[in-house]
Amino acid sequence: MKYSLLSASTSTKATDCLVLGVWTKNKLTAQAAAVDKLLNGEINRIVGSGDVTGKIGDSLFMHPMTGNAKRILLVGCGDEGALDARNYRKVINATIKAILKSTAKDAVLALAELPLKDRDPAWAITLLVQECDNCTYQYDHTKSKKKPAHALKAIAITTPADANRKAMTEALKAGESIAVGVSAAKELGNLPGNICTPTYLADTAVKLAGQYKSLTTKVLNEKQMEKLGMGSLLSVSAGSKEEAKLIVIEYKGAVKTESKPYVLVGKGITFDTGGISLKPGLGMDEMKYDMCGAASVIGTMTAVAELGLAINVIGVIAAAENMPSGKATKPGDIVTSMSGQTIEILNTDAEGRLVLCDALTYVERFKPKTVIDIATLTGAAVATFGDQTSALLSSHQPLADELLGISQQTLDFVWQLPLWEEYQSLLDSNFADIANIGGPRAGTITAACFLSRFTKKYHWAHLDIAGTAWLSGAQKGATGRPVPLLVEYLRRQKA
Ligand code: BES
Ligand code: MN
Ligand code: ZN
Repeated sequence: MKYSLLSASTSTKATDCLVLGVWTKNKLTAQAAAVDKLLNGEINRIVGSGDVTGKIGDSLFMHPMTGNAKRILLVGCGDEGALDARNYRKVINATIKAILKSTAKDAVLALAELPLKDRDPAWAITLLVQECDNCTYQYDHTKSKKKPAHALKAIAITTPADANRKAMTEALKAGESIAVGVSAAKELGNLPGNICTPTYLADTAVKLAGQYKSLTTKVLNEKQMEKLGMGSLLSVSAGSKEEAKLIVIEYKGAVKTESKPYVLVGKGITFDTGGISLKPGLGMDEMKYDMCGAASVIGTMTAVAELGLAINVIGVIAAAENMPSGKATKPGDIVTSMSGQTIEILNTDAEGRLVLCDALTYVERFKPKTVIDIATLTGAAVATFGDQTSALLSSHQPLADELLGISQQTLDFVWQLPLWEEYQSLLDSNFADIANIGGPRAGTITAACFLSRFTKKYHWAHLDIAGTAWLSGAQKGATGRPVPLLVEYLRRQKA
């Protein structure tokens, strides 16, 4: 999709589809009223007919007899003066879905100018681009017949007449960069486990570094990880024919090259059978998505490189396949992590924390400003938050507060769970320093408690994206979350 900006006065530009908002009670938005004048009241007549209600997301095509727009899509924006960020997102979604059903090859959207109660026009532009890309994403990597491409190829976004051009252009670039990152994350997530292996993730990261000068990728193999003492990570890949990889993607954007980096760590289990603690069969295919944390790291690094942020960022991916076999780790086995702490593996299906803990120890060497790990870690997070909200746990409240604020801003929601000391004893083991499970209760919290034992040397936050990284059912597919949240977090940081 090609995106461009138009100053408001040019909404008379020739187009296949001009999108205008209408309020409830038959009221036109300012943009619709301006066009209505040019069309001698044609819009008002149709709105007056009652065929378009103004309800959020309701829409109606009209084909005006005069003017430069082949068609006009009237889209409901709710009560005048009451449009907020969440409803604006619904309006954008409804708009794109309606346009995609038509044969329009281009569209002019006069929606980012709408008065939003809680956001500015720059935000409206960024979100619009993100949502348009979200709606037009199509997976066909493993389809023998590719879906026909959408007719819609170009979207022009009108901007308020008094808007700051530079801010609008930056907002557009931000939306495009986030969209590229989200698409990359979706694509990796959707690939099946027999294609997207740890080696495939590593190759993808190496290729990415070939595309952007600011990125370099280093890949550690199992032998190198053994030398580092990563007995915990390696216990997960022990049962698999696929070699585990530790992937390190470095972005250098800070003027002072030695500036301390922001670090992202992604769980990259390219398939999670549960190992010897085998999962039940129903729905197990969805465990190809158990690398969505890793995918979000790759997506975010892509967006950061696109944006050319003036900070240093390092993305680390702990990639492995969790399989049962004669060589697989067994319940009761005890391994030694890179930190030196011994771990009693009581359940081989709690493997995410086992790969992450060694990656979290590894990143100490970077003396990070902050570390955020992203992981499809617990079924309990799905039970708690469903598919709307990622779980946030952190040992550093200012970092948690920052992420909570950004999540409200970006609508890429997270919500905090406690990481209190009182939960730690659930991980006690009679035979090792720590057990890898904390029993059936408070699963998301005890998983984070486990990780917290390995993150004492820096400011750390953990995002459990088990519920948000992909959708199930008829709309099964990766969401690319939480790339929007992570990119916005990094955009706000200083070197
Ligand atoms: N990848 C799963 C978590 C998961 C389950 C994500 C379902 C999304 C949907 C993780 O490796 C896992 O199996 N966790 C176990 C931990 C338990 C054994 C302590 C879980 O949540 O059941
Ligand atoms: Mn598991
Ligand atoms: Zn898993």
